[in-house]
Amino acid sequence: MSWRRQSILSAGQFSARDLEEILNLSGKLETALKNSRNLKLLDDYVLATLFFEPSTRTRLSFEAAMHRLGGRVISAVGMQFSSLAKGETLFDTLKMVESYSDICAIRHSVEGASSLAARSIRIPVINAGDGAGEHPTQGLLDLYTIHRRGYLERPQMTVAFIGDIKYGRTIHSLVQLLSHFKVNLVFISPRELSLPEKYHDLLKRAGVSYSETEDISALREAHVGYVTRIQEERFIDHREYEKFKDAYVVDAELVGQCRKDLIVMHPLPRLTEVSTDLDAHPSAVYFEQANNGLYVRMALILGLLDINY
Ligand code: CP
Repeated sequence: MSWRRQSILSAGQFSARDLEEILNLSGKLETALKNSRNLKLLDDYVLATLFFEPSTRTRLSFEAAMHRLGGRVISAVGMQFSSLAKGETLFDTLKMVESYSDICAIRHSVEGASSLAARSIRIPVINAGDGAGEHPTQGLLDLYTIHRRGYLERPQMTVAFIGDIKYGRTIHSLVQLLSHFKVNLVFISPRELSLPEKYHDLLKRAGVSYSETEDISALREAHVGYVTRIQEERFIDHREYEKFKDAYVVDAELVGQCRKDLIVMHPLPRLTEVSTDLDAHPSAVYFEQANNGLYVRMALILGLLDINY
């Protein structure tokens, strides 16, 4: 079944062929936006953004993507400003969203909330981050960034993930997408924040070569370094977060010891784990990565609404 007209709930739902189509369409849209600020493809369509956890990039880029396609946006941001604060259930809220919009992006602190939403309403639902679960559209824009930099096409590529691999939902999604390609993965984290078991199973089934270490010097062999924040909001015991929050820092000095062609990615927001002294370095692609979210989310919106371009 094609990815078109579906909800996007997990990166695991995409085939290699789907990914090729999404990368190509995102590239076409990136080119098209250089010539036109509004592609006027979605005149009568409405996107609803329901963000019950904080966001800058995901919500704004979904909304910008819809505007650039000529569509409209309605938005509920923060539980406290919707009737959920008065005790309305998520199901009742979603039934309203279904009648007001054609497609909906939802971020929620509970893992599986977007799957529940997709089962409750008939319009396509996009998982814009569900707790420590997944963030598939971030994974897709990460993949697009790696592709745009010419790394996906290399016969041999090592991607090192650094930081909170247990709770980092963007990593959970990107790992599944990368399993379709010829990659070697290295997971660098404190043992307590290592890759959840289900992703070990997935990588073994896909035949992907990977290793785990606590030693950040493993970054030296990588072509792509994907850094994440320690996810404070997922820790039940705050003392645990305090223990790990400064576990790793990727800075210009460390990058100077790595491959010349290393690219450093981060889904953002960052705290101290990527030093600002790296921002002007040619390896730093995290702002470009966030920018790419616009083209990828435009492609996804068009696909889910089954509009050809
Ligand atoms: N990468 C990402 O999800 O950023 P936001 O939390 O700002 O949406």
